[in-house]
Amino acid sequence: MRLVFVTSNRGKLEEARKYLSPLGIEVVQKSISYPEIQANTLEEVVAFGVSWLRDHITGPFFIDDSGLFVEGLNGFPGVYSAYVYKTLGNEGILKLMEGVEDRRAYFKSVIGYYDGELHIFTGVVHGKIINEKRGDKGFGFDPIFVPEGYSKTFAEMEIEEKNKISHRGLALKEFAQWLKENLKKD
Ligand code: IMP
Repeated sequence: MRLVFVTSNRGKLEEARKYLSPLGIEVVQKSISYPEIQANTLEEVVAFGVSWLRDHITGPFFIDDSGLFVEGLNGFPGVYSAYVYKTLGNEGILKLMEGVEDRRAYFKSVIGYYDGELHIFTGVVHGKIINEKRGDKGFGFDPIFVPEGYSKTFAEMEIEEKNKISHRGLALKEFAQWLKENLKKD
């Protein structure tokens, strides 16, 4: 089967393709930008994005909204992750973390699939923010995040390895499971 993924983020697209293609699902990218509202939760951002996109796209599609939540910064940047990444970047987060003892953080990913109604799938991975950037794979905040139980950052992992434990990998796992139970392969 084919699934339309509305995203302009190459990293997200590649992760979804690597996860779903061995399951026989071809991911087709649609690069339409849609409004991302300022809300308190990623779920609200996704619900709004889907409700806007469903009037602009024919047929089923999915989107992914993610964020990095740093405990020692009271959950910042969280829902503001995209803006903070664009304006402050990894260097900015490292600077904000100077002198902050609690370096625990988690990534959360929310996938919204629309097929006439909205289905939400989520994934969370806990870890910590390290003191410097490491690795050149991945994207976004990957170089400063080390998942729990590992010593490598996400940016030091191949996509397959990151997908096994990451927020997006876990959300994709839930999504794939749901598809298996709810759709017949075509
Ligand atoms: P959005 O989901 O497009 O709103 O992106 C949120 C921000 O978090 C962007 O700046 C992304 O680069 C970053 N981000 C989302 N997912 C990941 C990830 O898997 N690793 C690192 N950064 C991420």
